[in-house]
Amino acid sequence: MNFHILTLFPDMVMNGLNTSIIGRAVNAGLLSIEAVNIRDYAFNKHQSVDDYPYGGGAGMLMQAEPVYLAYEAVAERIRKQGEKPRVVYLSPQGNVFDQKMAEELSQEEDLILLCGHYEGIDERVLEEIVTDYVSIGDYVLTGGELPAMVMVDALSRLVPGVLHNDVSAEFESFQDNLLEYPQYSRPEEWHGKKVPSVLLSGHHANIEKWRREQSIIRTYERRSDLFEKCELTEKEKQWLKDYLDDKISRHQE
Ligand code: ADE
Repeated sequence: MNFHILTLFPDMVMNGLNTSIIGRAVNAGLLSIEAVNIRDYAFNKHQSVDDYPYGGGAGMLMQAEPVYLAYEAVAERIRKQGEKPRVVYLSPQGNVFDQKMAEELSQEEDLILLCGHYEGIDERVLEEIVTDYVSIGDYVLTGGELPAMVMVDALSRLVPGVLHNDVSAEFESFQDNLLEYPQYSRPEEWHGKKVPSVLLSGHHANIEKWRREQSIIRTYERRSDLFEKCELTEKEKQWLKDYLDDKISRHQE
């Protein structure tokens, strides 16, 4: 998968994405990440890319032309059979990013991520080039660079080969709308807390059952919004009910 990030801060993006798993996947040729400096496409001698908004108001806006030229430089290279490339504009006004969106976008061969700064970008260029508006959550950041890095990370780990073992991408949080179960490593006892005995039993079916139950409890207790969406078997629903009844009666003792 190839990421093309249009930004005023290419170093920030590249420095944040050249380590660990993503850095290794780039070196292995599984991913490519390029940061295109929008300032390189400024059309005036001061290389300025921002100006005051018509109608007044606080702050500056990124102008349409440098953004458009930076986009065109990338699109010209990757455009296939006249197809319009997918362009994500990172903005608090977008659809909220989640695992499902990550899965869908990770199918693309090329993805252009457009990072705004200041008070935003002239609407006209957004209308012309953006295909998807994405927010990473209901809070406002100073620019789209961190959200773009979040998206590159979340999408990259879904690209085959990036995580080495395909099982981990599949079983982690949010697959099935369930949170991940708790995990333990050595030693067997730490600060007086023992590793749950089922995990030491070597009985794989019991371990799988315990993990699924833990995922269900966690999701129920911590993320009722996700719990609404997860599909449990009748047996699992009964098990959860018994677990909760048992918990209440223990509490009352
Ligand atoms: N730019 C500023 N805040 C943002 C957010 N929450 N998500 C995506 N892009 C942003």
